Amino acid sequence: MDRVKDDVLDVLFRKARTYNGWLPKPVPDGLLRELYEAAKWGPTSANTCPARFVFLRSPAAKERLRPCLAAGNVEKTMAAPVTVIIAYDLKFYDKLPKLSPHNPAMRDAFAQNPQLIEETAKRNSSLQGAYLILAARALGLDCGPMSGFDNAKVDDEFFAAGKCEACDQEFFPAGHVKSNFLCNLGYGDPAKLLPRSPRLEWSEACNLM
Ligand SMILES: Cc1cc2nc3c(=O)[nH]c(=O)nc-3n(C[C@H](O)[C@H](O)[C@H](O)COP(=O)(O)O)c2cc1C
Repeated sequence: MDRVKDDVLDVLFRKARTYNGWLPKPVPDGLLRELYEAAKWGPTSANTCPARFVFLRSPAAKERLRPCLAAGNVEKTMAAPVTVIIAYDLKFYDKLPKLSPHNPAMRDAFAQNPQLIEETAKRNSSLQGAYLILAARALGLDCGPMSGFDNAKVDDEFFAAGKCEACDQEFFPAGHVKSNFLCNLGYGDPAKLLPRSPRLEWSEACNLM
């Protein structure tokens, strides 16, 4: 594959920022589907694909999230056109016959190992959340990831058994999906950006061996 043009790196990384304010411009559902269709191709271990994404964009859905948020995250989250709950399914292994058809033993290897399940779900859903951020930027959206919220409250509100009214899909009503982090999506307001903080230099973060 050819190297991408330099401005692609600007869009994805160098000029991309974490947004705290949002322009009043809606994000169509079709764009959210396009976002998933791009992000889903990011790699996960054994192709487990444990992440589950809940896109909150109706005022009613956002209100259900409000009491779970850290105080500093409330205003910007309520103003964002979309907030995604990046979650993971602890029963991801039930999809392995589809996702890993060349290795039928894989499902049971996971199902019998709770520690491996937890580690795999957390690691790979975090990666998939990062793929979602980069895909969103590639599609012209801005992002505001957040871990400042009460995971247990979110899990109880959105993923507890029997609480799936108005859901598009039936993948999470049985209590085996857990929240990882949140990400606001939309068109960011540059006026509300904080100054860019530095990153570690190569010599501080990397080693060549
Ligand atoms: C997993 C994750 C959790 C974060 N949690 C919060 C949060 O709860 N509240 C907040 O205001 N910013 C949060 N941030 C935003 C970071 O502080 C921000 O992305 C970082 O400082 C880099 O900013 P920049 O992208 O503008 O350079 C979070 C970012 C990530 C990736």
